[in-house]
Amino acid sequence: MKTRVLPIDPSHPDPAVIAEAARVLRAGGLVAFPTETVYGLGANALDPQAVQRIFIAKDRPATDPLIVHIAERADLASVAVNLPLIAEELVQQHFPGALTLILKRHPRIAANVSAGLDTVAVRMPSHPVAHTLIAAAGVPVAAPSANRFSRPSATTAAHVLQDLDGRVDLILDGGAALIGVESTILDLTVEPPAVLRPGGVSLETIMQIVPTVTIRSRFLEVDSAASAPGQMLKHYSPRAELRLYIGSPQGMIAQMAEDARALLAAGKRVGVLAADEDALELPDAAILRLGSASDLDQIAVNLFRGMRDLDARHVDVILARDFGEHGLGLAIRDRLTRAAEGRVIQVE
Ligand code: TXA
Ligand code: MG
Repeated sequence: MKTRVLPIDPSHPDPAVIAEAARVLRAGGLVAFPTETVYGLGANALDPQAVQRIFIAKDRPATDPLIVHIAERADLASVAVNLPLIAEELVQQHFPGALTLILKRHPRIAANVSAGLDTVAVRMPSHPVAHTLIAAAGVPVAAPSANRFSRPSATTAAHVLQDLDGRVDLILDGGAALIGVESTILDLTVEPPAVLRPGGVSLETIMQIVPTVTIRSRFLEVDSAASAPGQMLKHYSPRAELRLYIGSPQGMIAQMAEDARALLAAGKRVGVLAADEDALELPDAAILRLGSASDLDQIAVNLFRGMRDLDARHVDVILARDFGEHGLGLAIRDRLTRAAEGRVIQVE
């Protein structure tokens, strides 16, 4: 298959380009498009064959359910049923936005979207390209992140092309994603509601509406009893082995520098994912700065690109620092923990 790439203005998408992309979706094709979180790989959620093509394009196991994207709040009633009362305020505040809700699935949504579950994940993106595309398609759009399975999510069209060239029909290039990490997934089918994946909307923000919310992610060691389907460990991974350091800033930086020097001395190629202000006595080529640790918006925007850039430098090992658990820090920690596949080093 030949993959076409069409540039599109992220704030004022050209209606002709949107109409073409919508036509591809309605014809059962695959379209990658920017959202405010990361790029999505879309297919018509009412067409099980189109949905099947997403799993094939990504090499994604059929057991890992997809998120359904809608254009308007009113569309919620046609993708989910039996909405709990609490959904109303969440939708008022965060649709559109970086919040995905798990609800009971409407029977018209293809069962393979939800990997056979009776629930469905629903999000209404705010990005103008995503919004106008879904509206023009006139159908709910199933869309996982537009990366190969277990690779870091794509935050630019170039990342999508790296992973999916020849596997999708069309990529809309609307520049870099604005948030850089995926949506927060909140399960409203359990009591109390549970965050299955921290993301673009912070836990603190969710707690303002749902004070009883719990976290169920086995990556964050908050409640290891349960986890979301499809949340298998190897995920968001660069090709290099990644190690995550958690502790005080001084402790993390000192240990990372020491370990990096030992690895370099042993002839390994090393990349360090660091903050701008981290004083690391290492060769410049071994450091990738993500932004200031006091600006988590910037760290999140650069996180997946940083992993991909270090892979492009062909490093053997990536040493990454933690950014705390407040605000976006929790989502950043979650992604790094998964990329580390358990290689988490606690320091003083
Ligand atoms: O920001 C985002 O959420 C991006 C953009 C494109 O919208 N999408 C995204 O999709 O991150 P994906 O497929 O990479 O992650 C969706 C995750 C699945 O891996 C699964 O863990 C969870 O959502 N999920 C989907 N449906 C679910 C369901 N019915 N029950 C529990 N978890 C579900
Ligand atoms: Mg993903």
